[in-house]
Formats: sequence, structure tokens, C-alpha cells
Amino acid sequence: MREWTKEEKYRILKDADEIAGMREGIAASKYRQTFHIQPPTGLLNDPNGFIYHDGNWHLFYQWCPWGAIHGMKHWYHTVSKDLVNWKNLGVAIKPDTEYDNKGAYSGSAYPLDDEIYLFYSGNHRDPDWTRISYTCIAKLEDNGTISKPDKPIFAPSPLFSSDQRDPKIIYNEELKKYFILIGARTHDGRGSAIVYESDELLSNWQYKGELKVPGFSDFGGMWECPAIEHIGDKDVFIFCPQHLKLPGRGETTNHNGYIIGKMDWESLTFTPEGSFHVLDFGFDSYAAECATKLDDNGKAVLVAWMGLPDSVYPTDEEEWSGCLTLARELTIRNRRLIQTPLPQLSILREEEMERTEGELPPVCEMEIDIPEDMDKDEYNFRLFMDKEGHGGINIHFDKDKSMFTVDRSGLTKKINPDQGEVREHTIENPLTHLRIFIDKSSVEIFVNDGDAVFTSRVFPTEAEHNFRLPESVKCRIWKLKPSVVDDFVI
Ligand code: FRU
Repeated sequence: MREWTKEEKYRILKDADEIAGMREGIAASKYRQTFHIQPPTGLLNDPNGFIYHDGNWHLFYQWCPWGAIHGMKHWYHTVSKDLVNWKNLGVAIKPDTEYDNKGAYSGSAYPLDDEIYLFYSGNHRDPDWTRISYTCIAKLEDNGTISKPDKPIFAPSPLFSSDQRDPKIIYNEELKKYFILIGARTHDGRGSAIVYESDELLSNWQYKGELKVPGFSDFGGMWECPAIEHIGDKDVFIFCPQHLKLPGRGETTNHNGYIIGKMDWESLTFTPEGSFHVLDFGFDSYAAECATKLDDNGKAVLVAWMGLPDSVYPTDEEEWSGCLTLARELTIRNRRLIQTPLPQLSILREEEMERTEGELPPVCEMEIDIPEDMDKDEYNFRLFMDKEGHGGINIHFDKDKSMFTVDRSGLTKKINPDQGEVREHTIENPLTHLRIFIDKSSVEIFVNDGDAVFTSRVFPTEAEHNFRLPESVKCRIWKLKPSVVDDFVI
């Protein structure tokens, strides 16, 4: 891989022409997705500012235009009416002030008087490269352009280390107050979250204190992208603890998970009603963000970055990397967050077939029903094998241990093997159902209607397009129509 200087990495995109040449090669890549949001060039990471407003779902993402590098982050804007068909609208926030001189980092959105306001972290670096992370606002104008006030809304708190970012804006109806939750790291290196409050959305922000989560005062080294969502009759604290290893997750030290409980905004205490659970048991999922549509019974949907910090992917050489997961509906069942594919995804289905082995369409959905009396030696579901039945991904279920495993060690194109090539999770119910969504370079596996989800990137070679399931299952497969326009809108 090429070496990048700071000057090359931290440039603001001024004109589409600067990346037009690079775009031609990228558009021709055989790994371009067809029903997932992906960057026109360069690197995509976190979803940002996910919001339903006035008939549209707006979804932004962290975007570095220059290559598969974590360089200058812009916010890129996409929009959808149904969370399935997405259109590119181009760059939203440019890091063009003193306060965000090295990137417009992650954040969230909130509506006020028919306008949408975007809250984000201005990643400022001093000449000696010391980080100062400002919390900034930008306004999304009706015509899609962005306006920014001269100043950020607040500077970082001296009570924490310089790692403070990813503002999540939350309104509490009872107290009639706005809160901003910020991911942080204490001076002695522990993951934390801090809270600001105000009576008004756009001003008067005051530091309120550290979020208290009893039992989690020493859990990882930095909490990125924190959020507190209200789902059903529960509060859910969703965040990304870093610098810790968790069972079943190989060598990776980056995780995205949640705790169900109750939030008290006056005492800033989130009281857990259970332990920390990983959101997605696959290899590539991070920085999830939720949105709700209030006229839809407050149903929450979640989207995550299909990638991880500190990871490299085979398309890095083609100068692009990253995509977002499918939008998923969130509910709570048996003290767990359940993610299910949206019902409207079925509009993409065409050409149904029923079979348990053979060639796998490169873009498809599989729905697999597993009989309860299946022999325990049978539970191997092979995807992306070659014609001779070698290699690929093996999905395995150990009936005695209830252990569900995804093993991608058989793929020709290796993906971060140093982080481990197997992910595993014990499921609580008998395995009865799998729904699998395959795009050109990803696979999302929903186990038992959302009991667990395994999301992974996969970069099959020309030969790796066969599958084989146990004979006794019933498997329907649909080819899927494209739903995310891959055009060059800057
Ligand atoms: C998470 C993250 C955020 C930060 C953003 C920068 O992946 O590190 O904490 O705001 O990415 O792109």
C-alpha cells in the first residue's frame, strides 16, 4: 500500500474533478455493492445524522474522498423514502473552519422548526498535532446546502482526555430538556460518556457531568459513538467500547454493543437491567446509529458501518473501502435487542428458486427453514465455495452447545486474518431459521428472526460462487434488484 503524507491525507475536497480519474476505476470494480450504501471513492466509516424528516430518511456518513485511508473526514449525504432505495446527494459538511480543520467527525441530527440541525465533532489539530475536539452545529438548508455558525457550541471538557467526540442529541420530554451525550476517555484511560444539557437546541449548552453506568466504570479504553435510545418500554445504551477483548470475537479490540436498562437524566445514571451484549456477532460492524419515525409507533431502525477501525480490506488497493449495513428494525425480545430486516426489502426480490446447492447468484436473499429433527451432524451451511466444494465461508451450528459459528478462513481473499477468522455466539433457542442477504461484497446473516446477526464483508473470486446446505432444509433464493444508485454525485 502507498504511503500518505499528512498533507495528502488532510485535504478538503474542492471539486469533483480532483477525484474523477480515480472514480472511473472504482465504478468498474466487481465488488461495488448494489443494495448497500457505499462511498463514490475513498473510505466510508460511521453512519451519521440518521433522521426521518418530512417524508425523507436522511443518512450521512463519514467520508474521506482520497483513498482507503482515515484522512480528512467530510459528511456525505444520502436520502431515501423507504430505507431501501437510496440516492446520493453529495457532500454535506466540509471541514472548512478552524474548529474542524482536520475533519468533520461523527454526530447526529435533530429537527427544529422544519429545519434539520447536524451536531458533529470538529476534529481540530494544533500545529504540534494536539487534538482539540469541538462540538459543532451545521444547518441543512432546504436546498441541501449546509450553513455553519462561526463558532462551535462548546470546547472539550478539561476533566477528560482529548478523546471526546460523537455528539448524540437527545430530547427528554418529561424534563423538557435537550441533552448531548459525548463519547470520551478519562485521563487514566477508561471509556466513558459525558453529558451536556440545555433548554434550547441551539444555545445555552452547559456541562452536566459524566454518565454513570453502575458496573461499567472500568470497561474498555474509549467509548465511541454513544447513544441512548428508547425502544419499547426500555432505554438502551448503545456504544462502542474499544481496547478490550471479548469472548467469541477473536483478536479484535473494537466492539459495538448495548446495555438495556433505565436512564435517569437528572442523576445521569443509566441503571443496567442485564449485561453488555454485542450488537452484531459478525466480523465487520461498528458505530451503529438509530433513527425513529414517530408516526410509525416510534419504531426504531439501525444502520451500522460494515467495517471496523484498524482494519484493511481487499478493495483498499482500488482506493475505496467501506459500506453501510442494511437498515434494520429494532425491537426488544427476552431482554435482547432484536434486529430484523425491514419488511419492505421484499420489493427487491425477483426470480424465486428453491434449492439447497449449486451456483449462488452474486446478489441474492436466501431464506432457510431448518427442521427441528435435523441430525446434529448436518449443520454445515457452506457459501462461496468453488465448484469442487472447497473453501468459502462455513456457517456451522453445534446443536449440543447451541453454538453458532461463522468461519471465513476458507476464502481466497483474506480479510484481517490477524483479528481471527472465526466468530461465534451461543444462541438461546433451537436453530429454526436463517435469512441471508448477499451483495457483491457482503453477507448479512439473521439467525432465528433476529436472535443474532452476523455481518461480514466477503470478496469472492470468480470461482467462489457455489453453495451447499444440508439436504433436509428448505431454502428459497431470490435474486435482488439494485436499490442504491452508484452515481458520482459530489
Ligand atoms: C468511529 C470514529 C468516531 C469518530 C469517527 C471519525 O469509527 O472513530 O469516534 O468520530 O470515527 O471518522
